[in-house]
Amino acid sequence: MRSALVLSALAGTVLAEHRSLIGRDGTCKPQPAGSGPVASPDSIDGFFAIPELQTLSSTAPTPDGYTAAFTGLNASLNANKYMGLWTLTSYDTIGCASLCDKTTGCEAFNMYSERDPTLDPNASNCPNPASLTNYKCTLWGDFVSESQAKNLGQWRNQFQVVITGSNAYNKVPAPCTVPGYDGPTQLGGAINAPLDSNRHDTYMGVRVYPFNEDQEYDPTVCATACTSQTSYNKGHPAKDGSYQTCRFFNSWIQSKDAVAYEVHCGLYNQTWSPQYATNYGQYSGNSRITVSRSYSYTLSEVVA
Ligand SMILES: *[C@@H]1O[C@H](CO)[C@@H](O)[C@H](O)[C@H]1NC(C)=O
Ligand SMILES: *[C@@H]1O[C@H](CO)[C@@H](O)[C@H](O)[C@H]1NC(C)=O
Ligand SMILES: *[C@@H]1O[C@H](CO)[C@@H](O)[C@H](O)[C@H]1NC(C)=O
Repeated sequence: MRSALVLSALAGTVLAEHRSLIGRDGTCKPQPAGSGPVASPDSIDGFFAIPELQTLSSTAPTPDGYTAAFTGLNASLNANKYMGLWTLTSYDTIGCASLCDKTTGCEAFNMYSERDPTLDPNASNCPNPASLTNYKCTLWGDFVSESQAKNLGQWRNQFQVVITGSNAYNKVPAPCTVPGYDGPTQLGGAINAPLDSNRHDTYMGVRVYPFNEDQEYDPTVCATACTSQTSYNKGHPAKDGSYQTCRFFNSWIQSKDAVAYEVHCGLYNQTWSPQYATNYGQYSGNSRITVSRSYSYTLSEVVA
């Protein structure tokens, strides 16, 4: 009984989408070029049989800070709290995760390959144009599951949009709280702080610790580094007796070519808000360095 209800609700959703798209005629306007391979001959069966699209999905790395909800489906998500669609130039789970990290409230994402038309299909002039393949990344504000992979594509006039290699990932919970500090505050990248209002540097350096995915991510190591730096400075004051207090730290995981390998702790003598968390990583030679699970913590009580 229950499953029959779910099934009919599901069919209703797909049909509603289908109908709204059938009703919308296109202009034959050329669509932006796709980045993926196209089948030859250009058919639906051919699209599903492109080996590269299956391989991209089955070998895609699970980004640090996420767990796979499903992989390798022929349907994209139709879930709760849609937060946007990005067309990427490659099948890039790491890049899609970074987009989710940068988007406040994003809890999950879906990466997939889609067969789309090269022209906006028009019933009389170009009802079934040649296809292109787009790599798409959608963001969601709630946890997702395989049962929500309900979007099988749609008809646009006589052109059939279909989906393959659909993988989805959920964000793992935030790391623990740390005694003596307020937080964690989730950040979209690592803090890249400007100088303070007096043009003085508030950065007190970075501490780096080895990390691998078998370990628990525990920013307590950063809190210890922050607290010890203050103690050390207190024991080695300037001539006037002053010393720097570590009041804020940013903890994140650094990955190289999708493999998490270090916990980084950026230490500061003042608080910085999430808007300064703009370091998302970079290429270092041929290696892709990425930032994930970035959180900040602020010293609760400043000891004079
Ligand atoms: C589709 O093509 C027909 C015939 O050229 C044209 O009259 C119609 O306006 C087109 N539809 C749209 C939405 O542009
Ligand atoms: C996706 O569709 C293709 C073509 O119909 C089929 O061979 C394949 O088994 C499907 N994969 C899944 C996971 O349903
Ligand atoms: C942080 O350090 C800079 C550079 O030493 C200093 O000028 C500034 O006053 C410090 N800020 C706080 C809040 O202590």
